[in-house]
Parts: sequence; structure tokens; C-alpha cells
Amino acid sequence: GLPSRVTVYEVGARDGLQNESAIVPVEVKREFVTRLAGAGLRVIEATSFVHPKWVPQLADAAELLGGLERAEGVRYPVLVPNERGLDRALDAGVTEIAIFGSATETFARRNLNRTIEESVEMFAPVVERARAAGLDVRAYVSMCFGDPWEGDVPIEQVVSVARRLLDLGCTELSLGDTIGVATPGHVTALIGALTESGVDTGRLAVHFHDTYGQALANTLAALRCGVTTVDASAGGLGGCPYAKSATGNLATEDLVWMLDGLGIETGVDVRRLAETSLWMAERLGRPSPSRVVQALSRE
Ligand code: HMG
Ligand code: MG
Repeated sequence: GLPSRVTVYEVGARDGLQNESAIVPVEVKREFVTRLAGAGLRVIEATSFVHPKWVPQLADAAELLGGLERAEGVRYPVLVPNERGLDRALDAGVTEIAIFGSATETFARRNLNRTIEESVEMFAPVVERARAAGLDVRAYVSMCFGDPWEGDVPIEQVVSVARRLLDLGCTELSLGDTIGVATPGHVTALIGALTESGVDTGRLAVHFHDTYGQALANTLAALRCGVTTVDASAGGLGGCPYAKSATGNLATEDLVWMLDGLGIETGVDVRRLAETSLWMAERLGRPSPSRVVQALSRE
């Protein structure tokens, strides 16, 4: 069966904007985050406390959060790779973080300048300190379905990294299809393997990039497996600056349109969200790739 309610984990302000070649002014980012909350999103990944030289687009993380008026009942998680990032996030008043590991050695090296082993060592004190401070900690695993340098990624390899990150004490695990190569059968197989290894589907989230147009089909496959948290980005913004073949995430409007049709509650107003994506597209100077945003703009 399908769930009656899905938590939409909005990543446009982070995954989307980290990948823009133009630097978006901090006031525009703040207005974007505020509008996302206004459209009914309840989990909004706001920014990253990574090295500012690695992702200059999000170097204004502290400034963004400093001036942000938090809406009641909305969570604003941020990416944190290491203890330096955690210190910065705590200073900014963050109450929820996400670490981000890789299922492959090549991407761990390119994205974190570490081996998988070294990155787990880097995350361990971050998770420990964050949990001790009462924060929830999500763990992403990137390249779960394929890697641009290594090709196919064995399911056992993904399960092994996922288990190691959860064992650090993370509260949620998001399965990243960083370059958008997953198909529904692969999704079902990976979630099945994770469940068999003892991971509760209630702790899983899925994070699909839409490179091959499979993100929505993959999401439906994940929902059928019992997943109830789905990552998406408003207007389909997104990508990863350290994985060139990555395109935008599953568009939040495409996701909510499907869930609305299925009678699955999200709390998101798809029309209001599409207006925000059109507004953002104007600021970025190019149209949203989301079919639902395009269709609604012609209504
Ligand atoms: P490194 O160069 O190995 O850093 O980078 P280091 O630990 O050697 O430190 C070097 C210097 O940087 C030190 O300064 C640190 O203090 C400073 P020094 O002592 O030399 O003066 N430093 C920092 N400064 C500010 N904030 C920090 C920080 N850390 C160190 N957090 C590092 C290692 C992990 C920092 C780097 O590789 C990095 O920032 N990587 C982030 C890359 C990234 O953000 N990628 C995109 C997000 S992942 C993604 O998009 C995938 C996802 O969407 C899921 C999916 O789609 O699959 C999540
Ligand atoms: Mg991503």
C-alpha cells in the first residue's frame, strides 16, 4: 500500500543554489526560504556549512540564517561535513544537521577530500557532539545507484556505508541518486537490501536527481516499499558541483502534483509553490525544468 502522508524534505535552497554559477544575493535566498515555508513546506534544508572555497555559492550560510525569520513548526536543517562546520552551524542557532557520505571511494575523494574510511572518522565526532546537543542528524549517502567515474555501484557497498553512518547515531538516512541514473527496480532492490540488513524504512528518505526523467517513478517505487520522506527541490533546481553529470533534483511541484492525485497529504500548496519557483527562475535568468511548473504557468 501507499502512505496517507508524506514528509517533503525541500532541498532547493541548498542542493539547488549550491550549483548556480551566479552568486545569488543573500536577501534573495532568504526570501526564497521564507516563500517555501509560506507554500506549506515543513522541512527546508536552508544552506551548508561546508568550506566556503569548495562551495562559494553558500559561503553566506551564517548571514542567511542570521537574518531568517523562522516560521512556527518548520525545520531548517543544514549540511555539515566536519567539526568546523558543526561549530559554525551551532553558532548560527541550527537545530538539525545533515552529514553526507559517499557509497564510492572516487566521490568521497572528490567531494570530501577523504577516503570513505576517513570520512566516517570525520563524521563520528560531528554526530556524537550534535546528538549530545539534542540535534537530529540526517545522513546522506551519495552515488547509491551509479557513479560517474566508477559506473555501477554494488548494493552491498551502499548497504555497508549506510550501516556505518547509521551506527554513528544518525536519525535518518537519505539515499542519494546523485546523477539521476536509478530506475524503479533498482530502488526496490536497494530498499529491500537495507530492510533485510535491519534498517527500518521509517528512517529512510529518498533523494532523486531527475537526469533521466525517472525520479517520479523511483519515488513511487520507494513509497510502495514504505518510505515516507521524499527529498525534492522547488522548480527542480539542483545538481552537485563535484559531480558534473548531476542535474536538478526531482521538482517539488512534480512530486506534490503526483501525491495530491494519490490523495497523499503533504501540506504543500502546489500553486503557491510554483509561483515561488517562477519568481526564482526569473532571478536566476532561466526557466524551471519542472513540467508541473511549466504547465501551471500556462493555466
Ligand atoms: P579539506 O580541504 O580536506 O579541509 O576539505 P581540511 O579539513 O583539510 O581543512 C582545511 C582548512 O579549511 C582549515 O583551515 C579548516 O579550518 C577549514 P586552516 O586551519 O587551514 O586555516 N575548514 C573549514 N572552514 C569553514 N567551514 C568548514 C571547514 N572545514 C574545514 N566546514 C571538506 C574537506 C569536507 C571541508 C571539503 O571537502 C568540503 O567542504 N566539501 C563539501 C563539498 C560539498 O559541499 N559538496 C556538495 C554537497 S554534497 C551533495 O550535493 C550530494 C547530496 O545532495 C546527496 C546526493 O545528491 O547524492 C547531499
Ligand atoms: Mg543532491
